[in-house]
Amino acid sequence: MRSHKATIAAGAVFAVQHALGAGPLQIPFSTDRLTNSDSVPATYGPDGPWQAALVQIGSSSASANGVFAPFWPSGSYLVQVLDGVAPGNYTTKDSKSAVGTRTSLGQSDSWWSDAFMNSTFEAKGFFDQVTLTGKTGDSSSKVNASVAAATKWTVPAAQGATYTPSVGILGLGPDTRAGPGDKSGAHDSILKQLQSRGSIPSQSFSMHLGSVAHSLPGSLLLGGYEDNRVIAPVATLRMQAGLHTAFLVDVTLGVEVGGSPWSDNGSVPGSVYAGNDGAPRAVELVKQLGGAAGASLVTLNAADPYMYLPASTCREAAKHLPVTWDERLQLYLWNTGDPQYGRIVKSPAYLGLVVSDKDAQNVTIKVPFALLNLTLERPLVDAPTPYFPCKPYDGDTLGFWQLGRAFLQSAFVAVDFDANATYLAQAPGPNLFQSVTRPINAGHGAASFLAKPPSEFARSWNGKWEVLMLNGNSMGTGGSSGLSPGGIAGVVIAAVAVVALIGFCIWRRKRGSRKVAPALPPRGSAPMVSAGGPMHEYYTPNGGAGELDGRSAPVHEMDGSSSNGTHEAPANPVYELPHTHTDNRPNH
Ligand SMILES: *[C@@H]1O[C@H](CO)[C@@H](O)[C@H](O)[C@H]1NC(C)=O
Ligand SMILES: *[C@@H]1O[C@H](CO)[C@@H](O)[C@H](O)[C@H]1NC(C)=O
Ligand SMILES: *[C@@H]1O[C@H](CO)[C@@H](O)[C@H](O)[C@H]1NC(C)=O
Ligand SMILES: *[C@@H]1O[C@H](CO)[C@@H](O)[C@H](O)[C@H]1NC(C)=O
Ligand SMILES: *[C@@H]1O[C@H](CO)[C@@H](O)[C@H](O)[C@H]1NC(C)=O
Repeated sequence: MRSHKATIAAGAVFAVQHALGAGPLQIPFSTDRLTNSDSVPATYGPDGPWQAALVQIGSSSASANGVFAPFWPSGSYLVQVLDGVAPGNYTTKDSKSAVGTRTSLGQSDSWWSDAFMNSTFEAKGFFDQVTLTGKTGDSSSKVNASVAAATKWTVPAAQGATYTPSVGILGLGPDTRAGPGDKSGAHDSILKQLQSRGSIPSQSFSMHLGSVAHSLPGSLLLGGYEDNRVIAPVATLRMQAGLHTAFLVDVTLGVEVGGSPWSDNGSVPGSVYAGNDGAPRAVELVKQLGGAAGASLVTLNAADPYMYLPASTCREAAKHLPVTWDERLQLYLWNTGDPQYGRIVKSPAYLGLVVSDKDAQNVTIKVPFALLNLTLERPLVDAPTPYFPCKPYDGDTLGFWQLGRAFLQSAFVAVDFDANATYLAQAPGPNLFQSVTRPINAGHGAASFLAKPPSEFARSWNGKWEVLMLNGNSMGTGGSSGLSPGGIAGVVIAAVAVVALIGFCIWRRKRGSRKVAPALPPRGSAPMVSAGGPMHEYYTPNGGAGELDGRSAPVHEMDGSSSNGTHEAPANPVYELPHTHTDNRPNH
């Protein structure tokens, strides 16, 4: 029971919010300990440690707000959660508010994490209550969410073993239908439900995942952002059917302040970007989307762990780092016995990812090596093992790459579905300024974010990293202005203005049974659902429309009309003009 005092405080806050109109809703993370969320672990592996957002799902006689469960914030269309078996976990069976939709769902993250993680996902469709309680506990909102409740959800570990993820996906994406057979029309998204009842100012969310190891708290706000999380400049990424894309044009190894761990004279390796591996699908997709030659198309997703990048770039970066490629894990492990390991990981050295935004503006997101000393745990390895999260990914699988949690530790991302834009900026380190919560006002653009100056990046890490003197010795953790080694050599050509053209890229899942894969980006203009038995296909509303440049390979069998769930992938990618694409979602 709330105390009398708490009730009064909550009432006062409500009155203030009411007077000022809708404010952002700040969601707690697992590391922000709330009194009644103690049943949920604070951190998650096996490739972190990570902190996850906490919301309540379902409802029962024991708790009208349901059980606390950890989630990755995402712009996917559905809430993806394990239909648990153990007590204390969410189960549709025990939830009084769960309503089955009689649909079976295959891979359903419309932001593609299950493709990058190569996970197996089988779920049943439900509507269920999700309760979003503000971080300070004084405001709480219930929504009716589209839920994919997984009966099977596994990620491959080494040597044929698999594990089940312990964190769900909080799909904050646009409105959904329950599937192609759904006659009931669109179901309002979580953000739309909150916005239309005046709980948040816009259909938007912002996130900065922060770091468990460096006590940098996570940030997730619906309808707003914390202004201490944004460092100028702010990039605007293109969005198509709820998915953002950016062009990666360079990857660099640099040092923010002081000397270099790589050489006594302060020089740094600079660019390690080696292009898009010349993968035909990647080349074609970049061309169709108007990117500069040699650029790599990337998307952002907190639901997967690594920085999935062209293999040649990971390899090039690894040449400058004390790491060893582990064939079994398909990851680079730090050589912890090498003195260079501690030197790099403690220094102000960073991996810089240069992204060209929709206006061909370059924005560099620096991920300090302090954050790239992540740890593998069971069941991936027997004993905790530090690894470098650059994950080589075959450009011919999907034609694009993904920046997961390892990257999002140091990036601020705001997704505004009203304005159909995603914003990306550098996020600070552990020395945060005081948080001021600001609304995201639709349509006000990148310039409307109150961002800290670029110098805030170094300031926010001051004392947390060991600045090196020019001769390579440690100068301690103090903040010398030092020199900021340049030497950033670009490999790639200037970005081109982005045209409103969207590519369809078909991929072939390299598995025992071949499955069709989806189109980028309007992968689930409706969630991937079939009324009937289990299926694994992706649903796209108009598979074979408007082909470009005379390509004839059809996009076939993507509507799940076949029941056996295995289809041949077409040999060639099919491209499609966006205006010929009839998006089923009603709000466009
Ligand atoms: C959920 O189930 C897992 C085992 O499947 C267990 O380790 C975990 O503690 C359970 N969560 C809660 C909140 O009880
Ligand atoms: C995906 O997993 C399957 C086993 O489930 C494996 O055979 C295949 O090689 C994996 N693909 C990739 C790209 O890792
Ligand atoms: C959620 O929406 C579905 C579909 O409109 C409806 O059947 C269900 O009763 C709703 N649940 C709640 C808790 O409002
Ligand atoms: C790397 O991370 C591990 C696990 O958090 C930590 O114990 C270790 O001290 C870190 N290494 C360095 C050089 O900071
Ligand atoms: C963006 O960065 C790339 C790679 O470093 C470079 O070639 C290009 O000239 C830059 N573009 C602008 C507008 O600065």
